[in-house]
Amino acid sequence: MNKKITIIGGGNLGTAIAEGLIKSQFCQPRDITVTKRNTATIQHLAEKGVTISSDNVAAVRNSELIILAIKPFQVSDVVNGFKKVLTAKHLLVSVVTGVLIADIENIIKKKLPVFRAMPNTAIAIQQSMTCISYSNATTAQTNFVTALFANLGKVTVIDEKLMDAATVLGACGTAYAMRYIRANIQGGIEIGFDSATANLIAAQTVKGAAELLLQNGTHPEQEIDKVTTPKGCTIVGLNEMEHQGFSSSLIKGIATSYHKIVNG
Ligand SMILES: NC(=O)c1ccc[n+]([C@@H]2O[C@H](COP(=O)([O-])OP(=O)(O)OC[C@H]3O[C@@H](n4cnc5c(N)ncnc54)[C@H](OP(=O)(O)O)[C@@H]3O)[C@@H](O)[C@H]2O)c1
Repeated sequence: MNKKITIIGGGNLGTAIAEGLIKSQFCQPRDITVTKRNTATIQHLAEKGVTISSDNVAAVRNSELIILAIKPFQVSDVVNGFKKVLTAKHLLVSVVTGVLIADIENIIKKKLPVFRAMPNTAIAIQQSMTCISYSNATTAQTNFVTALFANLGKVTVIDEKLMDAATVLGACGTAYAMRYIRANIQGGIEIGFDSATANLIAAQTVKGAAELLLQNGTHPEQEIDKVTTPKGCTIVGLNEMEHQGFSSSLIKGIATSYHKIVNG
């Protein structure tokens, strides 16, 4: 994994990616450059051996993999600023929400591999779910980008048409899960726990439940069957949640988020 990587946009996501790549030893800090206009805020990366810079052109010239982690409205200006130094050695990966692969291809006007990736905030602890799609990439290039994000969590390749859906399920999904956990904490306090203990129990229980699905490859209902005794306390609680519209409210929330992305 000896490609030099430049992350254009050392903000929340760009910094989290750099830190995750170093922690997971996917690459050496000396092989990473992070750019932003005000580099004072990423001095901590420089202390780890990362090159920090506000010179996008020089950074792109000296790298093979370019990760775009700027705001959507900045894409045109920033990419136009460095596109003259893009050559056949470059791979472009955009984590910018809502910017299509075709939008980037229209700016660079060169036939280069372009990837789009949708991670979530758990990328900061290498536990992201990252959906990627791509255009013009070879199998080796796709394997490289997949391996990069696999070091920062789990990865799946999707059709770009599903990127909005991936944003809802994978990125907004973190917020939905937090609300579910928060409700558990509130319920836990009502039945006797202090807030900190309820927080620990709720978060670890949800983490364990998710791991059961990931490690066993099971459907949630199979795991539910293992916990629900006939006439027991779990099934009455679950059924009451459903009577109150639990699954329906989640599905409606997901659909509402999706329609907001698609229709504005
Ligand atoms: N945060 C997430 O969980 C998440 C998840 C999925 C996708 N995304 C997407 O990722 C992108 C970045 O999100 P973010 O939360 O990291 O935003 P952010 O914290 O605002 O980071 C953007 C960075 O771009 C830098 N920047 C602006 N102009 C630049 C230029 N000309 N050259 C180099 N760097 C420049 C800014 O620093 P200066 O002002 O100092 O230049 C800033 O640090 C967004 O498009 C967002 O939609 C975010």
